[in-house]
Amino acid sequence: MPIVKFEDEGKDIEVEAGTSILDACEAAGIHLDHACGGVCACSTCHVWVNAGFDNLSEAEEDEEDRLDGAKNVTMKSRLGCQAMINGDITVKLPKQKGLH
Ligand code: FES
Repeated sequence: MPIVKFEDEGKDIEVEAGTSILDACEAAGIHLDHACGGVCACSTCHVWVNAGFDNLSEAEEDEEDRLDGAKNVTMKSRLGCQAMINGDITVKLPKQKGLH
């Protein structure tokens, strides 16, 4: 099963393949904002995937549009509710205030 490593929190968890990053955060007891409830209608669940980016589902156009409106977007940015985990990844969560 894929391992999700939370860079700043120093936590690793194992998840079922196909789990979203947002659900992995919840399973690990780590808070990730998700203002729209995970339906790709905000960008508060923005995270950076610093390792294993290719181990995620491909971003759909809706997700890319949402990310266009987010702050501090990099080539490693994904929306936590939209990115499904298929292999090991390392995630960095933005500090939640003022970054979206
Ligand atoms: S929670 Fe709104 S886009 Fe992910």
